[in-house]
Formats: sequence, structure tokens, C-alpha cells
Amino acid sequence: MESTSGSRISARTLLSLAGELRDDSAAYEALAERIRLLIVDGRIPVGTRLPSERELAVQSGRSRTTIVAAYQSLRDSGHVLSRQGSGSRVTLPRLGRQDYRPSGEGENFGVDFARAVPPPVEGLAEIIADASSSMPLALAAPGFDLLGTLSLRSAIADRYAARGLPTTADQIIVTMGAQHAISLTAHTLLTRSDVVLVESPTYPHAYEAMRRAGARLIATPVTTGGWEIDHLVETIERMRPALAYLIPDFHNPTGASMRPEDRVRVTEAARAAGTILVVDETTADLSIDRPWDDGPFARHARGASPFSGSGVVTVGSLSKAAWAGLRIGWIRADAALIRRFVQARPAGDLGTPQIEQLLAERIVRALPELLPRRREQMRRHRDALHEALSLHLPEWQVPLPDGGLSMWVHLAQSASSAMTSLSEARGLALVAGPKFSIDGSLERFLRVPFTAPIADLEAGTRMLADAWAQLSARDVRSMADTRLPEMV
Ligand SMILES: Cc1ncc(COP(=O)(O)O)c(C=O)c1O
Repeated sequence: MESTSGSRISARTLLSLAGELRDDSAAYEALAERIRLLIVDGRIPVGTRLPSERELAVQSGRSRTTIVAAYQSLRDSGHVLSRQGSGSRVTLPRLGRQDYRPSGEGENFGVDFARAVPPPVEGLAEIIADASSSMPLALAAPGFDLLGTLSLRSAIADRYAARGLPTTADQIIVTMGAQHAISLTAHTLLTRSDVVLVESPTYPHAYEAMRRAGARLIATPVTTGGWEIDHLVETIERMRPALAYLIPDFHNPTGASMRPEDRVRVTEAARAAGTILVVDETTADLSIDRPWDDGPFARHARGASPFSGSGVVTVGSLSKAAWAGLRIGWIRADAALIRRFVQARPAGDLGTPQIEQLLAERIVRALPELLPRRREQMRRHRDALHEALSLHLPEWQVPLPDGGLSMWVHLAQSASSAMTSLSEARGLALVAGPKFSIDGSLERFLRVPFTAPIADLEAGTRMLADAWAQLSARDVRSMADTRLPEMV
């Protein structure tokens, strides 16, 4: 598929991203809504020039009046600017407008199924209260640092060691969450046009960070059943990507976990190809009832090379295990790589607040007591959502993941974007399936997180069912989901 990140999007690409549209008197508003969604979740970048109204009318087989009205609606909502001579360009409305939200922000909605952010783990308030007397200690120093305090890095290293991966404090850099860790990794290790392998679907902000760092992305499929491991290994062998980004435990969004024997194959293929594996373990602590635990992925890495060390860079975070409001994450890698991250970091930020690190150290040390509570909480949420979806949307294929934070639901139609628009109109924030792919595929899938309060999981499911009923009544033609093409 043609890339949409250039300065112009063709009518054909725009229509394929927008998906199937109904054919009635309000067709213009449906088209405008769909384009708005693509703009808001970043699939059509700001500044992109849209096709001319005439070109879009010809290509879509719709009347010029419909397209003119759709573009007018986009201008009215502040998503498009049209200027004589330079056509119509994508823009973003002013912040604070009622109908505008940055992608993934659910605050303005009645129910938020856009973010997979769990509530604070039970027991966190007590740890904060207990730590408050030591907070003034942070005032003695500048209060932030590039590497992370020795006491927090030691606590993180001890936890890796307890989970079967000997680690020293000089193998850890503390970051402001896992997203920061991914972005720092991408910007430090990648050079423009490097090939990066990601899963499809994957966590979208990770591939966005790789793209920003200049990467050319290729993908390997993952389903709720797991990885096509031969495809993954052969792609590493054939394409020799500079970096491969994987979420091997309770993968976001499918919930799948990679089998231990496959981890060995992937690590060996990456080592032979000179590919650095960036292993995101943000969700690794979120087992609900997975019957096995293989410990940290990097246990499988052997030996060392001068540039990539053991070849595995592990990303971790307290966001899912404890609370995302802390903004504490880390990278575990060979000490020489950690020094490169420290050296590169000031171009992006000047360090992690030490007040948060003081708190984080106590939380990391308390994880063995906190995690069972998190698991029990997520079990209740998962089961409530599964029951509600099975009851109200029996035609959907709803998996029962054994951990993680979301369900990767298979819809009976290519209707994920349409469902997102219709749900938003009802006050339910969603992220459409194609946002989780690098090429706009996956229209038949929807990620439904089970992190919201249980009453919201039930209310949101009723909104989904209501939107689905409206959609089914519109007789959306089912389109075959195209097999994922490799994009190099
Ligand atoms: C797989 C994965 N990686 C990274 C992140 C970002 O986490 P953080 O809040 O620590 O930046 C998330 C959050 O949803 C995630 O699911």
C-alpha cells in the first residue's frame, strides 16, 4: 500500500483507509467522520494534502456534491484548511474544542475503551503515604538525573535477578515510562532508512517512534493464537533488520504470549542476523491464569558483540503493574549500551524526577506483594467484559486472554473504523483496529481493553451493541481482509 506519510494522499489510498461507506443522503457526513478519525488517530499526518474534490468524486463513484459537503464539514470542524492554489490540507482543530481529542485520550467521553490503562494497584496509596516522609531527601540534589538513582536501578536489577536473569545496576537506565524508553532506544540505535521489524498488530506508539527515528518498517503477523514463528524467523534471516520490536508476554493488543522454545529460535536468528531485539516487557507482569512463566526474555540471549552487546534490549515499566501516573520505566541492556543511551538522552529530555524514583524504588521492592492483587483485579475485569461481550454481541469472536489488559475481538465484518465513529457518537472512546497495523489493515478487528471500571465495561458493551445494531442495519458490505503485505 502507498505510504500516507508523504505530503499528498491519493484518492485511492484515502478511500481504502476510510473503508466501506453507506450510500444514503448522509453519505457526506459518514465520509467526513471517517476522514476525521484517520486524522485524529494519526493515520493521515498533519500537513497531508487531500485529493481534489473532483478526483475523489471520480474515484469513489459519488457525486461531486457529496464530496464538496464532506470537505466543508471537515473545514467546519477544523480538520482541513483549504487555500486557493494549494488545495486542502489536513490540520488539527484548536485544543479545547468539544469535538476534538488527541488520539487515545478518552477524558471527554462517557466511557473510555481507547486506553488500556489500569487503575492504581491496590496498596499503592499506603506506599505513597509511607514514603512521603522521605520525599524531602530529593530536595538535596538537583532533583533529576539522566541515568536513574543507584537505589532504584539496584531494586530493578535485583528483581531481574530474582526472576532468573542476573543483572547489575549499570545495566539499567531509568526512563519516564516505557514509551520514553522505546523512543530513546529508537533515536539512539537507528539511522535513517534502517529496516525495523514490528509485529502486526502492535502497540502503535512504538512503531510511530521507530518511524520518527527514520526507520523503514516491515511486519510479521500475530493473532490471539500467537506468532507465525517461521515467518518471524525467516524475515529476520532474509531482511536482517537493524532492530526488531517484540511484545512477547501478553502482547498488546492480542494478549498472546510467545512460547519459550520460540524465544530461543528468535534470539538465535536475531543474533546471526545482527538484529537487536527490543523486547517490550511492559505487560509481562500481567498474568491472570497463564500456566507458565518463562522469566525475562533476555535469559535466552548468549554471548556479546561489541556494538549490540547481548543483542537484547529490554524495556520495562511500572505503568501497568502499579500505576501509569508515576511515569517510571527503564531499559535493561549491556552496560556499554546503557552509556550510549545516557549520552544520547539530553537531546530529548534532561532526566527522570527523583521524587518519583524514591517512590518507584519502594514499589519495585513491593511488587511480589502487589502483583497478586493486580492479577485478581484484572481477572474480575476480564471476566466481566468477556461475559458482557458474549451476551450482547454473540456474533463477534471474543477471545479469553490469559493475561494482559485487552481483548482483540474479531468482528464479523471489516467494520472497525465504522464502529469507532458510531461508538464515539454515543460517548464511547475506541481505537480502530487499523491503528495497530503499519499499513492500515486489520479493519476486522477491534481492541477492547478491560481496564475501565466494571460498570463502564458493561455500559460500554451496551453502547457497542447499539452501534453494531445501527451498523448492521446499514448493510455494510463485507470486504475480505487483505493479507498483510510486507512494507520495506
Ligand atoms: C506494550 C506497551 N509498551 C509501552 C507502553 C507505554 O507504557 P508507559 O506508560 O510506561 O509509557 C504501553 C502502554 O500502553 C504498552 O502497552
